[in-house]
Amino acid sequence: MANQQATTASNGKEGARGERSNNAPPMLDLTSDNITPNTIRINSQGDDERLIYLMSRLVTHLHDFARETRLSTDEWMAALNFLVKCGQISSDVRHEFILLSDVLGLSLLVDSINHPKPPSSTEGSLLGPFHTHDAPALASGENMSDDPQGEPLLALCTVKDTQGNPIPGVKIDIWETDSSGHYDVQHADRGGVASGRGVMVSDSEGRFRFRAIRPVSYPIPDDGPVGKLLRLLGRHCWRPAHMHFTFEKEGWDRLVTALYIRGDPYENSDAVFGVKRSLVVDLDRVDAETARKYGDDVEEGMWLLRYDFVLVSEREAQELRDRNAIDALAKLGLTHLKLVDHLPVPQVD
Ligand code: BEZ
Ligand code: FE
Repeated sequence: MANQQATTASNGKEGARGERSNNAPPMLDLTSDNITPNTIRINSQGDDERLIYLMSRLVTHLHDFARETRLSTDEWMAALNFLVKCGQISSDVRHEFILLSDVLGLSLLVDSINHPKPPSSTEGSLLGPFHTHDAPALASGENMSDDPQGEPLLALCTVKDTQGNPIPGVKIDIWETDSSGHYDVQHADRGGVASGRGVMVSDSEGRFRFRAIRPVSYPIPDDGPVGKLLRLLGRHCWRPAHMHFTFEKEGWDRLVTALYIRGDPYENSDAVFGVKRSLVVDLDRVDAETARKYGDDVEEGMWLLRYDFVLVSEREAQELRDRNAIDALAKLGLTHLKLVDHLPVPQVD
């Protein structure tokens, strides 16, 4: 952080022309040496101490970035035009800013801060921009894919706590692409009919079972500004084959995750950094006994996915989040901060 003082005159009072009455100094004669503390001061007039803290740190880092890089006017304008383009290409089903956050590693970072996982629990992965709220309810064993080109897959899963106890009644949202690597919302003719997605509930033993297709690798949308940025950075835009899941039940920390299929060419170079070793699975084949057990819709030889998911209680997650926050702040030497509603704000004595 730049070591600067707010050096303009202090404590302006109500002016005849309606300037605000507050502690903000007149904003005159600002220079590269005093713009940062003065911007922070004028941003600190509201009542929301968390917002004031967030803005103060954002301004500090942004200004330091410009100072450190000697940001040129052309570069600054290119960045602003880039953001404009992100907005222009965004729609209800295309969220370029999420994509930007994903390729910058910010999505992964925010998720790991907010949903810390003790060692025995299932790790999180990116939600991504293709989750919807209109997935149909799936009965146990039902097929969520209507893609005849896809390779059929049976998933036999459980959801348990960190002690190994089954958790019944968990709402599980599942989604994947079709065999061409597109989510249903990416098809112009989708209309109101969802496919490649479904919502189900774990049974009294914490089990859930569904049919789908074997996931395939696919490129994240690369026809917009984020795709262009990746190309300029010499990066590819591919995600390894995966299937998305969220798990929700009162009292449990919401788990947003995905399972990745071992052996995918992009397993070690996911464009959005979502792969964790613990989430990479080997697919098996359904044997004759399993096919008999699950009835007519399950055929011997189809792909078999088995996975036991482990949720963290809300209380466990909150305690871990607080502990991690205190450790992280101490490591950064930020001893003047306190936690309010579990989030850091400055300690004012
Ligand atoms: C996805 O897995 O659906 C996804 C994640 C990040 C960016 C684009 C797609
Ligand atoms: Fe995906």
